[in-house]
Amino acid sequence: MSRLNNRHIVLGITGGIAAYKAAELVRRLKERGALVHVVMTDAAREFITPLTLQALSGNPVHSSLLDPEAEAAMGHIELARWADLLLVAPASADFIAKLAHGQADDLLSTLWLACQSKKAIAPAMNQAMWADPATAANMDTLRARGIAIFGPGAGEQACGDVGLGRMLEPGELADLSESQFDSRLLDGKRVLITAGPTREAIDPVRYISNHSSGKMGYALARAAADAGASVTLVSGPVALATPAGVERVDVESAQDMYDAVLARSAQSDLFIGCAAVADYRPATAVEQKIKKQADEMTLTLVRNPDIISAVAASPDRPFTVGFAAETQDVLSYARDKLERKGLDAIIANDVSVAGIGFNSDQNEVTLVTAASEEALPRMGKQQLADALIAHLAQQLGARR
Ligand code: PMT
Repeated sequence: MSRLNNRHIVLGITGGIAAYKAAELVRRLKERGALVHVVMTDAAREFITPLTLQALSGNPVHSSLLDPEAEAAMGHIELARWADLLLVAPASADFIAKLAHGQADDLLSTLWLACQSKKAIAPAMNQAMWADPATAANMDTLRARGIAIFGPGAGEQACGDVGLGRMLEPGELADLSESQFDSRLLDGKRVLITAGPTREAIDPVRYISNHSSGKMGYALARAAADAGASVTLVSGPVALATPAGVERVDVESAQDMYDAVLARSAQSDLFIGCAAVADYRPATAVEQKIKKQADEMTLTLVRNPDIISAVAASPDRPFTVGFAAETQDVLSYARDKLERKGLDAIIANDVSVAGIGFNSDQNEVTLVTAASEEALPRMGKQQLADALIAHLAQQLGARR
């Protein structure tokens, strides 16, 4: 399966003759399973119609920053958070200059500044414009900021000149886009991740659980696999597809999750406890369905084993990372859990904020270690997972 499968790509199109190739690029990205939103500058609309790109991408084309209707549907900040990759292809000399100088006077340049995910440009211009020192300096600036540069290629140009400045072909751009999700940061590492809720049986038809959807843990599993790790995902009951290349072990209760994790943790380099594990379970799971009787009933609960503490206390412990889902004093409770559970790092998640945390598509967290705090702003869970895996790979590398 392609690494672009289900990845969110915002394709920015600027004004240049190569804009016609953007239609084919959308097709190539979609063929690989990517979900694509197109943003066009005014100049791009002179070269290719939004209707073509809307039909090919299956989504309305975005072009105006000041369009209240478009902003109400999916505003520019939401689009920036949605993107796993923002690719500008073709990127004209003028637009590259804009990006290098941080201008934000239209939708695409504003989106560029607001987007915290992977960003790439595919330059396309006349060879003399590409060779001009001003363009070269702008390119140096973007390269130094870590922007991926796809091309340009050399050859005959639409204007009749021959030289560097041709936009790469759509297939090549799709390959390079795919390579952005193949960091090799965790090559050769074994990563164990828990995700989703647990279910604690009351009787054969009822259970205690929580609102975890598994989205955050599954996104982490995908990000770790994309980074080259061999990943095992111990999952509570969720309605999500297993990410490609990930081994999944299904469990129901906290005790099941404990058993599945402890059987594998010593062979792992990194453990991430993202599951919302029930702290308590009914003292006895009744074998037959409980019948309705009195107006009140009392359920006696007992503590579940603490999975992550057991992993952290084991002799062959992996680099152990927890989550702290809190609704108040988030950072101080997270630090308390970091110490009490003996973790290497903890990801503080304020689940009282609307739109993030349990069962949402976005999240916003702080990665806390004994010596550091790294705030990661609100973004899509997959984008956040990519960023967290990059941070954790760095910490893992520094420790070993
Ligand atoms: O699944 P989603 O809908 O995408 O939502 C994501 C999430 C909100 C569930 C996730 O981001 C998150 O915050 N997960 C941790 C939830 C939680 O149970 O936190 P906690 O603060 O209660 O637990 C602290 C840590 O101990 C966690 O790493 C937890 O996995 C672990 N734990 C807790 C209890 C227990 N018995 N064993 C454990 O290992």
